[in-house]
Amino acid sequence: MQQITHDVVILGTGLSGLRAAVELCRRTGGKVDIGVVAKVQIMRSHSVCAEGGTAAMMRPEEGDSYELHAWDTIKGSDFLADQDVVDRFVHRMPDEIRLLDHWGLPWSRREDGRIMQRPFGGHSFPRACMAADKTGFFEMQTLYDTLVKYNNFKRYDECFVTSILTDDNGRFAGLTVYDAPTGEFYAIKAKALLIASGGLGTLYGFTTYSQTVTGDGHAMAYRAGIALEDPEFLQFHPTGLVPSGILMTEGCRGEGGYLRNSKGERFMEKYAAKFMELAPRDIVSRSEMTEILEGRGFKGPEGLDYIQLDLTHLGADRINKRLPLIREVCMKFLGLDPIKQPIPIRPVAHYSMGGVEVDIDGHSKIENIWAAGEVACYSLHGANRLGCNSTAECLAWGGITGENIAKYLETNPKISAFPEAKANEEEARVFKGFLQKDGPESPYKIKKELRTLMDEHAGVYRTGDSMKEGLRKIGDLKERFKKIGIQDKGRVYNSNLFHALECENLLDLAEALLTAALAREESRGGHARRDFTTRDDVKFLKHSLVYYNAGGKPKLDYKPVAITNWKPVERKY
Ligand code: FUM
Repeated sequence: MQQITHDVVILGTGLSGLRAAVELCRRTGGKVDIGVVAKVQIMRSHSVCAEGGTAAMMRPEEGDSYELHAWDTIKGSDFLADQDVVDRFVHRMPDEIRLLDHWGLPWSRREDGRIMQRPFGGHSFPRACMAADKTGFFEMQTLYDTLVKYNNFKRYDECFVTSILTDDNGRFAGLTVYDAPTGEFYAIKAKALLIASGGLGTLYGFTTYSQTVTGDGHAMAYRAGIALEDPEFLQFHPTGLVPSGILMTEGCRGEGGYLRNSKGERFMEKYAAKFMELAPRDIVSRSEMTEILEGRGFKGPEGLDYIQLDLTHLGADRINKRLPLIREVCMKFLGLDPIKQPIPIRPVAHYSMGGVEVDIDGHSKIENIWAAGEVACYSLHGANRLGCNSTAECLAWGGITGENIAKYLETNPKISAFPEAKANEEEARVFKGFLQKDGPESPYKIKKELRTLMDEHAGVYRTGDSMKEGLRKIGDLKERFKKIGIQDKGRVYNSNLFHALECENLLDLAEALLTAALAREESRGGHARRDFTTRDDVKFLKHSLVYYNAGGKPKLDYKPVAITNWKPVERKY
């Protein structure tokens, strides 16, 4: 098998991957040889879809502080965030924003010329640095433009990484790659790996995510022996457009938008009288579902009953300047103009608080593997992430991991011995095992059924019985997956093959999520149970760790939460 060698390989080219690549270039004067691999073209990474803003404490003179940002994040996390990690995050962010500013990001500006910041849910200060409602797009563009000033990286676009290879000592040795444009299969070896592959949102049917976001990095790290931490905490964003699921940014409420039920009431008054529509997402999503389930929603298509997001009182000028994308999407997808009509929305799968277990530096238990961004869990968000802390996290830990990998390279680590036999086995698994499959089952149908079952059994509200039923159905789907057929037998741009590999990843991740969720007999943040309705700090103030167990059920363990400053208290908003 062809072997290509780099100093560092970065899996994923969203915000965290690009930020890490830039940091590696800056730290080494462009001397380090980097491979960046993604199954999409760079600017199609899902980060370009981030809308509302990026959180940072930029205005101490106007009343914000590091402590306030940290406290908001920890309280928002339902006290499951590791507090040392949060502290590091809030201190790092202002410089990240200034760096992007210096690199040319066209931020929205206030009258006084300073970067505009809008309010976001659960933040007690307007903290979301914004570029209208296209913040992720401009951040990606700025990072990409900065990276191309260096010429020490090679892009592997539209390349599907199928496995993470380790050597006999358990060190990272290389990635196996299916290169879709050429149909080749090869290995990329490196001294260090950064996993920056984003989220797993298409585990659900109703989601804000692009169809490409299938948790591949999560699944490969899991199979390589790294635990998935806190996978049960899946965030439902309160405002997904019905019926497509497209994100209607929290910036809509940050700009003053209201949520109304079918009686025309601003119902958040009952659930969070002070913060109202800008309570944290777990609380707003639970409230919306309560309204819908108690019959105060609107009848929607495809069983998607909804709530209304009302921007009509904001006026055309504000909407056109601050929410142009939202208006364009509503008009194109629904023929609805939010200047004049309310928008149909409901909670939508949006973000995974958990991920690949890493420490505060983004370093995994494997000596030469790091992870950053949504795929990683350094326990910044605990049980519920605050809006605009995600693009922030990608920048902060893209920078941190880039810096740490650069330091690691200074120690002159060796490239691990290449596990040729494992690599050949993997090629056979993909091109003989998968590609030659001629069974009666369709991976497309299995994925669709999986996503529907996750909507039903692992949604905003959960029960033990329903989750057990969900796990049983996943077991059935896994059995059926063994009998799939792949129609396209060609090697070049084989989207059937891509799809089957993604489906396999999603099945394993769904099982991990529900295994941890079933065992967590409490309600906390994004995990709300009908049968255990309150938070239980005595039994469950701890992180779940789920380990892959080839051929058997996942293994579950726990580890403590780092409480360095604030003791858990009741959350009131
Ligand atoms: O609503 C939004 O713009 C999403 C932001 C986020 O998830 O951080």
